Amino acid sequence: MQTTRALRYHQEGTPGEVLTLETMELPAPESGQVLVKTLAAPVNPSDLGQVAGVYAILKPRPAVAGNEGLGEVIETGDGVEEFQPGDWVRVPAESGTWREHLVADAADLMPVPNDLPLEQAAMAFVNPPTAWRMLRDFVDLERGDWILQNAATSAVGRYVIQLARLSGWKTFNVVRSERGAAAVRDAGGDAVVMEGTDLKKAVAEHAADRRPRLALNSVGGESAIALTRALAFGGTLVTFGGMTGDPVRFPTRQLIFNDLRLRGFWVTRWLQEAPGRELRAMHDYLFDLIRMGKLFAPVAAAYSLDDYKKALAHANEPGRGGKVLFMPNS
Ligand SMILES: NC(=O)c1ccc[n+]([C@@H]2O[C@H](COP(=O)([O-])OP(=O)(O)OC[C@H]3O[C@@H](n4cnc5c(N)ncnc54)[C@H](OP(=O)(O)O)[C@@H]3O)[C@@H](O)[C@H]2O)c1
Repeated sequence: MQTTRALRYHQEGTPGEVLTLETMELPAPESGQVLVKTLAAPVNPSDLGQVAGVYAILKPRPAVAGNEGLGEVIETGDGVEEFQPGDWVRVPAESGTWREHLVADAADLMPVPNDLPLEQAAMAFVNPPTAWRMLRDFVDLERGDWILQNAATSAVGRYVIQLARLSGWKTFNVVRSERGAAAVRDAGGDAVVMEGTDLKKAVAEHAADRRPRLALNSVGGESAIALTRALAFGGTLVTFGGMTGDPVRFPTRQLIFNDLRLRGFWVTRWLQEAPGRELRAMHDYLFDLIRMGKLFAPVAAAYSLDDYKKALAHANEPGRGGKVLFMPNS
């Protein structure tokens, strides 16, 4: 039997301590199965949270880490007609994506067009749908509307800026470094301010024409409070991440006198519950934008699995300016 390697953990804990690069058996694909080679897989905050045991979904252990990734079909078992060698697929989250190969049931694989830029395709399944749904599903936005967001340097933040511009909406972005501010301006952010700025005042100056009715929060704590204060009457704060780990609190006055709405969003649930047709339409739309170069996130660096400790340290660096990817077979 052939072997393959993967980053696995046997107990939850600090990723750099509990992950190990392990050699595992790789069976030949049986009837209805395919053998897939992983091309690229990002390190997302939720992957690290899952290994640490603080995410909503925890994998049965031992588990292969990573939830997003792109693979190429290498071999097909009997009876597989929907895939052939060379096709691209999403590596299923449940199998773990920080691995060289996997054998999977063909029925569990999502096809991916293989004319997309490879690195962008590997990051197409989580953050672009998150940005797209949050812009669509909470507030009925009109052209010229402003959207507030913190952690604007994040991949989700970049996608929000790009998708908002395509729809004629403007983004008011909060970042935590001057370097991040310059990057977000270059990426097309309409207004950019630093964390700690009087956001309500800044919004009143720049966006007095239309106070924002939607704010997207992935930071928590004081940053989230600042977003709520800057929202228009009846505005909605959507929380989808908590990078500081600080709870989301709200000013009582805002809630009462400004009819503030507090919502949460988790793309995993949306993807599980969406009707197949809606899901395919969204992916096709986002894949088209990626193909045209209108939707992309920067990549900070790509690592082999052998260099996983360096990759994890890089992923934890403030201001890394892009995603850290594993390219397990390059
Ligand atoms: N709910 C959902 O369905 C869903 C889906 C996708 C993502 N998310 C969440 O969305 C967030 C962004 O994900 P991503 O993959 O786009 O992230 P990413 O590209 O890895 O970027 C991380 C971002 O967090 C910022 N950050 C880190 N620590 C911070 C702190 N202590 N205070 C303020 N900002 C901090 C970074 O700022 P610097 O650039 O300055 O370092 C950067 O903007 C994460 O919390 C993730 O878990 C949620």
